[in-house]
Amino acid sequence: MISLPLLERIIRDAGEIALTYFRDLNHLTVDKKSPRDFVTAADLAVEKFLQAKLSEHYPQYGFWGEESGQSKNQTNRWIVDPIDGTHSFSRGQYYWSISVALEIDGVIVAGAVYAPALDDYYCASKGYGAWRNGKTIHVSEIDDLGDAMIGTGFACLRSYLENNNLERFCRVAQATTGQRRLGSAAVDICLVADGQLDAFWEQELNLYDIAAGALIAQEAGATVTDFQGNAGIFPKHILVTNGKIFNQLLSLM
Ligand code: IPD
Ligand code: CA
Ligand code: CA
Repeated sequence: MISLPLLERIIRDAGEIALTYFRDLNHLTVDKKSPRDFVTAADLAVEKFLQAKLSEHYPQYGFWGEESGQSKNQTNRWIVDPIDGTHSFSRGQYYWSISVALEIDGVIVAGAVYAPALDDYYCASKGYGAWRNGKTIHVSEIDDLGDAMIGTGFACLRSYLENNNLERFCRVAQATTGQRRLGSAAVDICLVADGQLDAFWEQELNLYDIAAGALIAQEAGATVTDFQGNAGIFPKHILVTNGKIFNQLLSLM
């Protein structure tokens, strides 16, 4: 189907392009797609590179990137977020990533999330496992929500919504030991896969934010559901847990 080493080489090269911009933020061109929703020259350059390389090596698959939209072949396609965590990137913070998933007949079969500033490369192949920098990863063993460290996200874009995640955050924060808002949903989900977080949830995301991360988490033993507990990859209501605190956290969603 695809070669994971080739995919890694392409994505690491894309990471080098992103890092070139990241090291020279004073000259970074930042535009707004809408109030509070940023796109930089780095997002555009990374997506252009990935589209060119992936279509060169895999012309049989379509391409859906956040910045360029969807191509015609929508059954079998790459799903790409060129920089997940653009706001953090533009401020010189380290939690941002390049997220690439391959969807075949509606199923995510491969996924990679690369955080270039951390030099952490996560990937998974459906049915074969998940890895961080070449080593197999697993979710954590924490089974008491009170001991857990949980990640979430808030988009300024959603601040106008009546249900904007703040009430849910307060409920969870009161029930847990640690909360994190790191700024890249794709990285957050990989941290659950790697046992660095015990769970993550967010609402109103898009498939390109979570497709790769969700497969990586599933392959590392996580439960991936919506806020009702239905198994599957649901961008509008995604809950990723280590499984052991799933019921405790689900009741707070
Ligand atoms: C954003 C990040 C962030 C999440 C936002 C997303 P972007 O993606 O994943 O963590 O809270 O909802 O939009 O815009 O930087 O690609
Ligand atoms: Ca994103
Ligand atoms: Ca993005």
